[in-house]
Amino acid sequence: MPSVYIKTYGCQMNERDSEAVAAQLVAKGYTLAVSEAVADVILLNTCSVRDAAEQKAIGKMQNLAAEMRRNRPDVVLGFMGCMAQSRGQQLIDKLPDVDLVIGTQKFHRTVEHLDDILAGKRAKVVDVGAEQGSEGTIREHILNGNTAEKSVTAFVSIMQGCNQYCTFCIVPYTRGEERSRTIPDIVAECRELVARGVKEITLLGQIVTSYGKRDLPLKDGKSAFVQLLEAVHEIDGLERIRFTSPHPKGYGDDLVEAYGRLPKLVESAHLPVQSGSDRLLKLMHRGYTRERYLGIIAKLRRVQPAMGITTDIIVGFPGETELDFEATLSLAREVQFDNAFIFKYSPRRDTPAADMAGQLPQEVKEERNARLLALVNEIGARHYQRCVGCRAQILVEGPSKKNPARMMGRTRSNKIVVFDGSERHRGQLMDVQVTRAGSFTLYGDPAIVNL
Ligand code: 5AD
Repeated sequence: MPSVYIKTYGCQMNERDSEAVAAQLVAKGYTLAVSEAVADVILLNTCSVRDAAEQKAIGKMQNLAAEMRRNRPDVVLGFMGCMAQSRGQQLIDKLPDVDLVIGTQKFHRTVEHLDDILAGKRAKVVDVGAEQGSEGTIREHILNGNTAEKSVTAFVSIMQGCNQYCTFCIVPYTRGEERSRTIPDIVAECRELVARGVKEITLLGQIVTSYGKRDLPLKDGKSAFVQLLEAVHEIDGLERIRFTSPHPKGYGDDLVEAYGRLPKLVESAHLPVQSGSDRLLKLMHRGYTRERYLGIIAKLRRVQPAMGITTDIIVGFPGETELDFEATLSLAREVQFDNAFIFKYSPRRDTPAADMAGQLPQEVKEERNARLLALVNEIGARHYQRCVGCRAQILVEGPSKKNPARMMGRTRSNKIVVFDGSERHRGQLMDVQVTRAGSFTLYGDPAIVNL
């Protein structure tokens, strides 16, 4: 059977989509190639959130196409995901060696399209339409590439799309309207994962706090998302629950209170703030003010003082003045984020911000990026340093990526801890003593592990 190699760009949702496609292909008899050099089919699962991400995937495809034309003309080349959705046929017009373009509601059709292309039934396929029910089609899992090593953590897609329409963001156009899976469907998938050895589940969606809003009424004052968290929390053998990405405005009291009530819901929250300036938050169409955002952080810390809080921030949004930017710096100082991901504003086609006055030169974006990064790193380093000498519970995931001779796990607040361990620790929840902090990494000493 043909072998397939999938290269993924962008967010965790994309990682999850690629994993589901890989599992669907394997179920139909395809094999997974260890590298693109030996694959019969090469698929790039793309990201559109910034121009750089698109250019990377296009450049990669250009190189692949040139290489395949020279040496292996029968290899099937395809784009999937967000850029495939938003550019469709244009991608084939630009890159005529591309055989397949699969949009974000059509991942599950990859197998049949590949079958057709490989059988010579169709030369090119572009499938980017909307499909009812597609939110329920990302459900199969390949845990650790089907090797003997068990996956400890898994992602579960609970919804697709976003109706927030932030003015900078292309996602509503690439992922479509919000559509949620049902609670029983999601719980069944989670149960199956736990039966296969998974201990920690991250619930995924473009705006998870809007989960089920239109389908499920409030129950005892609890939103559909909190009802889902409660249902997943019931699963025996599941140790930890995370979710991403939420929207700050979705942190109602029911969700804040869930952190104090559901022990499997770990003390970790990724709360994308984007800017510290009310003027910019309004222009961005974020739906909250600086004060409201700070209020949510304060409430979360009241319920869980050890809460690890991370964020996303955009620098150089159109019209951002030095004063607006300083408001972002002061917000970062005030919140003391454990970590923050900083993005230089990138105009996206069809989004309102791309046409706003006051587009800023690249130098300004670079300069603000550097200043904010220095601050974020300084605050982050202090957070990590403060952990030294503390005891923390980690869930051991497997070998450390940077040094496979050592093992790694995560604290409940989502900090990586590297320690001298062995395969037998995989999947274990254990207490470690933190002995040292590096850059956004902690080191633990197994000699003083208390089990
Ligand atoms: N330019 C720069 N960053 C962006 N993001 C989303 N759209 C853009 C854009 N046009 C960032 C936001 C979001 C993260 C995933 O990507 O900070 O939270």
